Amino acid sequence: MSSKSCPPNDDDPASGMRKGLTSYGDTGFSLFLRKAFIKGAGLTDEALERPIIGIANTGSGYNPCHGNMPQLVEAVKRGVMLAGGLPVEFPTISVHESFSSPTSMFLRNLMSMDTEEMVRAQPMDAVVLIGGCDKTVPAQLMGAASAGVPAIQLVTGSMLTGSHRGERVGACTDCRRFWARYRAEEIDDVEVADVNNQLVASVGTCSVMGTASTMACIAEALGMSVPGGATPPAVTADRIRIAERTGAQAVAMIGRGLTPERILTAKSFENALRVLLAIGGSTNGIVHLTAIAGRLGIRLDMEAFDRIGKETPVLVDLKPSGQHYMEDFHKAGGLRTLLRELRPLLHLDAMTVTGRTLGEELDAAPPPFAQDVVRPFDRPVYAQGGIAVLRGNLAPGGAIIKQSAATAGLMEREGRAVVFEDLEDLARRLDDESLDIHADDFMVLKHIGPVGAPGMPEAGYMPIPRKLARAGVKDMVRISDGRMSGTASGTIVLHITPESAIGGPLALVRTGDRIRLSVSRRELALLVDDAELARRQAGWRPRPASAADERGYRKLFLDTVTQADQGCDFDFLRSPRDNGSTPVGKP
Ligand code: FES
Repeated sequence: MSSKSCPPNDDDPASGMRKGLTSYGDTGFSLFLRKAFIKGAGLTDEALERPIIGIANTGSGYNPCHGNMPQLVEAVKRGVMLAGGLPVEFPTISVHESFSSPTSMFLRNLMSMDTEEMVRAQPMDAVVLIGGCDKTVPAQLMGAASAGVPAIQLVTGSMLTGSHRGERVGACTDCRRFWARYRAEEIDDVEVADVNNQLVASVGTCSVMGTASTMACIAEALGMSVPGGATPPAVTADRIRIAERTGAQAVAMIGRGLTPERILTAKSFENALRVLLAIGGSTNGIVHLTAIAGRLGIRLDMEAFDRIGKETPVLVDLKPSGQHYMEDFHKAGGLRTLLRELRPLLHLDAMTVTGRTLGEELDAAPPPFAQDVVRPFDRPVYAQGGIAVLRGNLAPGGAIIKQSAATAGLMEREGRAVVFEDLEDLARRLDDESLDIHADDFMVLKHIGPVGAPGMPEAGYMPIPRKLARAGVKDMVRISDGRMSGTASGTIVLHITPESAIGGPLALVRTGDRIRLSVSRRELALLVDDAELARRQAGWRPRPASAADERGYRKLFLDTVTQADQGCDFDFLRSPRDNGSTPVGKP
């Protein structure tokens, strides 16, 4: 694409340097001043007449998942300039899972607001959003959906796998596995220190089908990334080429009116939900997709999501549901290999950032070849979709379980609740040798929902109590209103809605109560009679607010965050319009 086919329009107040002028009461002066300042950076009038592509740079010393940002920005700039545009990079905040207290989810909405406001405030005709670590891609897509400027997502790409004493390892399914072995005293201090050096073998995002990989696949399935953009690892030439193509494509989007609203439709969200199920994707993907859709007034219908789960098998054989890593998925042809298998179930007329439909892009994709990472439909990794939606008197607003990463023998049973009131209580008592807990009990953790912790931490993956781990127990039923990392596995019920901190039924559970879990019937029931529950409800009181709860971003968060079934977005950021719900059904 040359600048000729996308000419700058000097008279158009909604394009280029004229866009969104600072208010001085004199638009001529505003433009004069703006140009004077940017010329201070050495730019010429000719450069300033080009279409402007903003590049959201989320590089940070605290975010090794974005450690290849300088190379990506350089490649995006090259692509923009080859296509006749002027690239202008700008920073937004960056959020890494392990460097965000109290939790990265607490900061996702802040990053989305930063992205939205900076895209809207600064003159750009289109924007390239570079994210990667779990919360950054959803934050950028949420912000872009609200800003309404043509936007294209580029992910940083996955890290390489490492090798520990001859065994291939990668973050962070193997992080959890080795830590569980350490807790069970199967490996010693020396080995756990050794493996710590190998789990993250390069910059880039986690190498399994965790939330980052899930959101990379979802961005491509939504049509918000260039085809083939989801899977190239961070340090490969393929990743750099994708970055260059992304820059060029951003220029091509200008003038075609390819705003996020045209791409992010009910049909594209349904495609993304199918992909989420078929990749055995992270449970966090549902929360993020709900939030992105909510920015456009589209509701994700969880009952229908569960129904399509029954007809959408897990086909991608990646950890934690399967065996392989992201670099293997890329070598197997990436997401397009999966989309080809799912083709009969997809809305092929959904638009993408290329201006072509998903079906047209699949027709133009490289031919298939023999590989063993993406299974054919008749030989799935797991016969149903990876995630099931549960209901019952313990979760009137719903809960979810990643059935593809759960233990088959634990998904249909009744158990005694052993309750931990919050994370502090869990930390205090979990490894107490006198704790009254057995392998067939249900561990219940309260106060880790959106308001509770706050920020809905990924603490739903409760460690197995040390005395049980030592005895060889690998999995137990664990129930909470929190989330879990997409890299984790186990029989873990999450996202109970409404959460305990606002008086949901989870708040009423006591040690010794019986709970019934039936994934086949999609049931989560607290087996306590209604009169007793009413008595407990009458005596329930919310925890008093702390001084920290009363100021700043934390106050905004606590006052306005929605529950998991609304994506944990802030209520005032969701669209007031009603643009229907998904799934809309295959035509
Ligand atoms: Fe960044 Fe896993 S911690 S992707």
